[in-house]
Amino acid sequence: MSTGVSAPPPVVDLHRASFGHQGRPVVTDVDLTIAPGQVVAVLGPNGSGKTTLVTGLLGLSDHLGGTVEVLGTPLARLRDRTRIGYVPQRHTLSGGVRATVAEIVATGLLATRPWWRPAGQGDREAVRRALETVGLADRARFDVDTLSGGQQRRVLIARALVAGPEVLVMDEPTAGVDEASQVVLAGVLRRLATSGTTMLVVTHELGALRGTVDRVLAVDAGHLSFDGTPQEYAVHQAERARAAGREDA
Ligand SMILES: Nc1ncnc2c1ncn2[C@@H]1O[C@H](COP(=O)(O)OP(=O)(O)OP(=O)(O)O)[C@@H](O)[C@H]1O
Ligand SMILES: [Mg+2]
Repeated sequence: MSTGVSAPPPVVDLHRASFGHQGRPVVTDVDLTIAPGQVVAVLGPNGSGKTTLVTGLLGLSDHLGGTVEVLGTPLARLRDRTRIGYVPQRHTLSGGVRATVAEIVATGLLATRPWWRPAGQGDREAVRRALETVGLADRARFDVDTLSGGQQRRVLIARALVAGPEVLVMDEPTAGVDEASQVVLAGVLRRLATSGTTMLVVTHELGALRGTVDRVLAVDAGHLSFDGTPQEYAVHQAERARAAGREDA
């Protein structure tokens, strides 16, 4: 019997989707539905297409086939980009431009107000909270150039968080981040997960996210080769290792 309350649309809904670069497909035939609140890890070897897939969801790699809906809207029609936070891979902030940590984080709010309205108290408060979340509140007024690579990754995470996105897409957010900071970040992700933020995290360090991730996707040579729980993934890995052992014998 219908209750009259419709279920929220999936956050990500892909049917036979393909993404690539300069018209050349890299990831093909992806069927994937992610429900609100899920925390999904994307694993796979270098060059398998993880970044191409997740940037495809943001309209940053070429959509070459199939259908792509994000937050219930076909990708091409999704206007409110502040609903999605994005931490790009291998992106630090040094190089030329002088800006403070708080200024960089505040750029994550630019799309939330009309261009003629200056940042207000609410914006400054949001920046402070985002920096506190990643453990960098005491660095707000520092030049980003003076921060380490790992600290800069955390600034980028704060920038992705500051507008309170419904979905966070993070491409190796903890690459180059020391173990202590990884623990801090894992805690941040856990809190966000608890508050209902949907997350898609490309990572080679599943261990750091144990207990937070509730679904694992593996990408292999441009295809989704696994989709299941972390427990199922561990079994899948063990079976693969056994099969490889038999082949070697
Ligand atoms: N901007 C680009 N232009 C052309 N080809 C690209 C571009 N970005 C990636 N590729 C190609 O797409 C393929 C998949 O790359 P992608 O960056 O998606 O892999 P990945 O799984 O994220 O790898 P890594 O673990 O190294 O980050 C590679 O063959 C790569 O050369
Ligand atoms: Mg990548």
